[in-house]
Amino acid sequence: MSKLKVAVLISGTGSNMGALARATMDPDYPVEIVLVLSNRPHAAGLELAQEHGIPIRVIDHTGYDSREAHEHAVNDALRESGARLICLAGYMRILTDGFVNQWRGQLVNIHPSLLPSFRGIDTHARALERGVRIHGCTVHFVNAELDGGPIIAQAAVRVEPDDTPESLAARVLKAEHELFPHALRLIGDQSVRWSGDDAVKDLNVSSSDVARME
Ligand code: GAR
Repeated sequence: MSKLKVAVLISGTGSNMGALARATMDPDYPVEIVLVLSNRPHAAGLELAQEHGIPIRVIDHTGYDSREAHEHAVNDALRESGARLICLAGYMRILTDGFVNQWRGQLVNIHPSLLPSFRGIDTHARALERGVRIHGCTVHFVNAELDGGPIIAQAAVRVEPDDTPESLAARVLKAEHELFPHALRLIGDQSVRWSGDDAVKDLNVSSSDVARME
């Protein structure tokens, strides 16, 4: 079985990348990680990737004059790695439309909310402020709209009366660690792909995704 080659972009802890790396230890898992790339030299996830024997690259955005120049370097590294799918796993950089369009259908993101609710940052605090009873996380294909591309899989998390943004974030993160490998398995198995022009209607799903209450 030839496995889907994946590159994971991180900026920090990299716990989602770690969950994915653990999933790839199963010989039947249809995905292999060929590169972990960080825009921050001290991202803790880099060490974690090395512990898993995964090649790492640091392309520090502060060393480039423009977003485009940094992305150009990132893109070269991704092409060199042979990756066919790029996963944004806590990669805290806004991507240009040019980059997103180049990797159309081959670029996925994990986001800590049930999209389309709570796009952007501070999702857990905003969810609590809004008083939602159910929160969660989403893996989606990336398009030019912030957190707006076709949804691949979601997991739901119950909001408890005494939740703080931190306690809620911790439970959502736990759900992310299951959801991310699950979503990548769907892509690796070719159960889901984004082929057409339309953001949602052209997503081909032949296997059910998850909706789990933690
Ligand atoms: C995760 O909760 C991920 O969903 C979020 O950052 C965290 C990274 O954690 N991503 C975003 O907010 C992107 N907008 P990790 O580095 O431990 O995987």
